[in-house]
Amino acid sequence: MTGRYYVTTPIYYVNGAPHIGHAYTSVAADIMARFKRLAGDEVFFLTGTDEHGQKVEQAAQAAGVAPIAFADQVSADFRAMYDVMNVSYDDFIRTTEPRHIAGAQALWERIAANGHIYLGAYEGWYALRDESFYNEDELVTRPDGTKVAPTGAPVEWVREPSYFFKLSEFADRLLELYETRPAFIEPASRRNEVASFVRQGLRDLSISRTSFRWGIPVPGDPEHVMYVWVDALANYLSAIGFPDADNPRAGFWPANLHLVGKDIVRFHAVYWPALLMAAGLDLPDCVFSHGWWTIEGEKMSKSLGNVVDPRDLVAQFGVDPVRFFLMREMPFGGDSDLSRRAIINRLNVELANDLGNLAQRTLTQVARNCGGVLPAQGVPTEADDALLAQAALLPTLMHGHIDRHALTDGLEDVWRVIRACNAYIDHQAPWALRKTDPERMAVVLRVLVDALRVVGTMLQPYMPGSMGAMLTQLGVAEDERDFASLDRPLPEGRVLPAPQGVFPRYVEDAAQ
Ligand code: MSP
Repeated sequence: MTGRYYVTTPIYYVNGAPHIGHAYTSVAADIMARFKRLAGDEVFFLTGTDEHGQKVEQAAQAAGVAPIAFADQVSADFRAMYDVMNVSYDDFIRTTEPRHIAGAQALWERIAANGHIYLGAYEGWYALRDESFYNEDELVTRPDGTKVAPTGAPVEWVREPSYFFKLSEFADRLLELYETRPAFIEPASRRNEVASFVRQGLRDLSISRTSFRWGIPVPGDPEHVMYVWVDALANYLSAIGFPDADNPRAGFWPANLHLVGKDIVRFHAVYWPALLMAAGLDLPDCVFSHGWWTIEGEKMSKSLGNVVDPRDLVAQFGVDPVRFFLMREMPFGGDSDLSRRAIINRLNVELANDLGNLAQRTLTQVARNCGGVLPAQGVPTEADDALLAQAALLPTLMHGHIDRHALTDGLEDVWRVIRACNAYIDHQAPWALRKTDPERMAVVLRVLVDALRVVGTMLQPYMPGSMGAMLTQLGVAEDERDFASLDRPLPEGRVLPAPQGVFPRYVEDAAQ
């Protein structure tokens, strides 16, 4: 069954350079998008940059440039990172674009027209670093007596006139949402956290500021700019042309998946659905929260100087090994550590050895012993049937994993098939059959090509470049790479290109 699929990443702040955490979310979203495209869905994959707010204003000031010039530069750097990471976004929205400003203001106006916004005065603890307000009881007291946000960010007491969103009125509806649509927040551990936060009661949310200028003016009261999170969340609507119902993309709402890191779940699973309810709009299907990377066992931070630019990893290991590592190493939803040793291990064992060698062994034998053309399917033995049946099950299993956003489990199932192929080739020993039973040898190699075709097809979303190259070597034409094509056997006799290794081993010494 095909349909429409709308997936988003958070839009990233432009006050810092792109790092591995940004690349991680975006690659995960890219895999979802590529998978759905191969499944025949019409996909809209949105990402972008979050460019307003006091932090950006201050960062620009420190750099001695206008905020927009600063944002232009960093936003362009995010796109450059995406090119390196092979992220196939359909649109890249910037919150400084007129289309976004119009969309965010329209959303505000709709919520106001429905009676959910009022003017008041705000007093409270604000953490500039998180662009977030905290309740007194959420603050943590440091040994020296200072109070900080639960994230460790410094907080200050602020007081100013402010528009408020009547968030408190939505607590019951939100709890009902988590109850009746548990898939709205995944994984379940995050859902429990969010639900218990809401159960404690919600206070109205201050949604405008007068203390700085770098933001979207509040409709009808330009002294105020919108709170940066209301501005930012609106991107998911403004990118599909909201409020214009005739926009060709309007039909993508509601979004299927908002992928976010665990630090920003509250904004996406509490504020966002409440704002949408207030505007009378449908709610997205799922907010999926992933864990955080540490680097060689330490928290990644500017002050520790260990912030990893994904482009440096790609320069050393290649883009697909890095994409693979990110998805393989971190159980999707959990936390994990990124280390050089772990990357090299995964690359050498799972990619170069398990998969690369298998493809290379199979294809060199086809080249040498079958005249470089695809052998016929032949009469299968029980062992052949068993392997082909295991491979044939993969697309169904993968669909299940992808729909549960279990990207790591998907890889585990593919590797089960790869390991079965390796056991099969060792057991069948086609190199020995060459003399004793060349006909059987050809059938064995064809079984391997067919199993590898399924593996390569299903792995394309994770490693598009190298799997494209592998499929070419297996004789799979470019228009035969979607999932539906797997039902059509490749014709025997097709001429295969000369085999070339897809995943060279990484040799540490030679690189130093
Ligand atoms: N601008 C907001 C999002 C607005 S969405 C409407 C924002 N931007 S951010 O630049 O701080 O990027 C945050 C994303 O990067 C979050 O999803 C966060 O979880 C992720 N990561 C930041 N550090 C990370 C790691 N060390 N590991 C994994 N992801 C990390 O928040």
